[in-house]
Amino acid sequence: MVFLQFLTCLLLCKGLHSMSIHNTTNEIVDVVALKQDVESIKDQVHNLTRLIENDINSYKQGVFFSARLSRLTYLNKNSIVKFNEVVTDSGNNFNHGNGMFVAPVSGYYQFSWTTFTYSNKIVDTELRVDNVIVDAMYAHISVASSIPATKIAICWVNKGDHVWIQTTNSYSENVIHNPNESNAKISFLGFLIEEKN
Ligand SMILES: *[C@@H]1O[C@H](CO)[C@@H](O)[C@H](O)[C@H]1NC(C)=O
Ligand SMILES: *[C@@H]1O[C@H](CO)[C@@H](O)[C@H](O)[C@H]1NC(C)=O
Ligand SMILES: *[C@@H]1O[C@H](CO)[C@@H](O)[C@H](O)[C@H]1NC(C)=O
Repeated sequence: MVFLQFLTCLLLCKGLHSMSIHNTTNEIVDVVALKQDVESIKDQVHNLTRLIENDINSYKQGVFFSARLSRLTYLNKNSIVKFNEVVTDSGNNFNHGNGMFVAPVSGYYQFSWTTFTYSNKIVDTELRVDNVIVDAMYAHISVASSIPATKIAICWVNKGDHVWIQTTNSYSENVIHNPNESNAKISFLGFLIEEKN
């Protein structure tokens, strides 16, 4: 016990002694600077942790959907194509009642859609994001046959934006053929490439 007290005193006295040798003003300045550095590093670590967690979460969740139209469809101008069958949907973001995808996060997305032409008929469709035309696809074959046409687009979508396929303002009779209705081939799909806030 006595030895411990002696040791404590020795350490304290030594500490005080060494402090009196050094310029205490400098030491206080050093401690303040050190504290600021530590706070800044803590802040950076916190920010990095958050970034990594966000990345891992969006990677884990993923965002994608795929839908099909299972019947021969006649559409006037400016009519939304109501893809009625959901093949896959990561987070219930595609509404098969109205044919619209609602973006759960902001970022760059890829969308793609395929239509089949009907003999001598036109299919003129466009991709709309938040009602803005992003891309369009005209398909027509002037003989009694059916061919598929596909378009792929990459675009920016804000969280909450609606994305859909509709006929353009050009033709009042668009016919989307489905060569084998029990095996739907008319599709609309999309996925998130990169999330950005
Ligand atoms: C201690 O450091 C301060 C700040 O650098 C300086 O202004 C002061 O003159 C120094 N004092 C001594 C005794 O060296
Ligand atoms: C941490 O993030 C906040 C909020 O975005 C920002 O204000 C701050 O400057 C960042 N700190 C560092 C050290 O990057
Ligand atoms: C239509 O698709 C179904 C399901 O894949 C298949 O069993 C059937 O043979 C196809 N019919 C024709 C005419 O291609």
